[in-house]
Amino acid sequence: MRGIEAGNNLLLGVTGGIAAYKSIELARLFRRKGVEVRVVMTEAATRFVGPMSFQAVTGEAVRVRLFDEAHEAAMGHIELARWADHLLVAPASADFLARMAHGFGDDLLSTLCLATSAPVSVAPAMNVNMWEHPATRANMSLLADRGVRVLGPASGDLACGDTGAGRMLEAAEIVSLLMYPRKTGLFAGEKVIVTAGPTREAVDPVRFISNRSSGKMGFALAEAFAEQGAEVLLVSGPVNLDTPAGVRRLDVQSALEMHRAVFDNIRNADIFAGCAAVADYRPENPSDRKLKKNDDQMALSLVKNPDILAEVAALENGPFTLGFAAETQELAENARGKLAAKGVDMIAANLVGENLGFDTEQNALLVLWSDGEQRLPKQPKKGLARALLEIVAEQYQT
Ligand code: CTP
Repeated sequence: MRGIEAGNNLLLGVTGGIAAYKSIELARLFRRKGVEVRVVMTEAATRFVGPMSFQAVTGEAVRVRLFDEAHEAAMGHIELARWADHLLVAPASADFLARMAHGFGDDLLSTLCLATSAPVSVAPAMNVNMWEHPATRANMSLLADRGVRVLGPASGDLACGDTGAGRMLEAAEIVSLLMYPRKTGLFAGEKVIVTAGPTREAVDPVRFISNRSSGKMGFALAEAFAEQGAEVLLVSGPVNLDTPAGVRRLDVQSALEMHRAVFDNIRNADIFAGCAAVADYRPENPSDRKLKKNDDQMALSLVKNPDILAEVAALENGPFTLGFAAETQELAENARGKLAAKGVDMIAANLVGENLGFDTEQNALLVLWSDGEQRLPKQPKKGLARALLEIVAEQYQT
């Protein structure tokens, strides 16, 4: 998508949410970069910040209502839609994103979203459960299919007291993403999905089955893709790591949630890197009450989880697929077997156990594709990720 440059006209839509105050700074930063900014607020947004604050920063009257005679006489809403070189909705609430996804035009801002032919970006901000709700997921995938660029949200502590994805990106981050889109790098403009970390498969409300994955390799890979100009979506299981710069992150718990997050977003992806240590099995009937130790023995019945990587590789016109294989023996044989069995384009295999692989700072990889292979010697995971991407770039381009 075309970025914003000095001299461009930016229509900034502000919707209802506690993050609305951040958009005053956003308007100010864009003005400082020489961008013309006009602000349109929804009624709900005016409950969080006053239009006067935006007017002070932009030097322009702020518009709220669709049928406002004084404003319409000065510049009609269709004219305003044409004026814009870019439309950014920040913060974008769950409600506004839903109305946008379904083409509503019941207030000024939603009407402008329909009427403009300029590129549209949104910076969502909401509670983590709202962001992860299937309704929001479906709306986001509709918007992404339509070419709307989604900036964030970031993960962390939310205003509501919860922790997770839902925080609006900081103003400076939004400005740098929109004004300086990376045009360079091995994967400039490519859309990449990376899975990372372990999954947790619930046994009961307090227990789960999981594994030792720390997520470090997947996060290093996501960071390396972003450094090389890719637009990265990182789907992560529970880990204790910060989101790399310029990467959009979705947090999940179980393999089924990871599967859903990946397939909600896969249609636009050019490359899929399955780095997560997805639990192969999950308890068949997780208990909704804490299990009691009544018996001397207990048996847990497990059922197989979907193989996310294999399903992505099986898509018609699907993305380039990179899988990982963690093996304790016969590395090359097992990894070549997985390359064929899962139908992926490339496998990065590593030996695990004895201070190798899981939850370590360093790793070594054997990278395999249909008619070649290359060894990457033991090194810190960030360097390893960069070296791996050079091999991926070569194979991706052929
Ligand atoms: N993978 C996946 N979904 C699963 C299991 C694995 O996407 N349900 C992906 C992993 O992200 C990794 C690759 O498949 O990229 C290999 O995973 P691994 O656990 O090493 O192999 P398995 O296919 O599970 O085979 P096995 O456990 O029998 O070695």
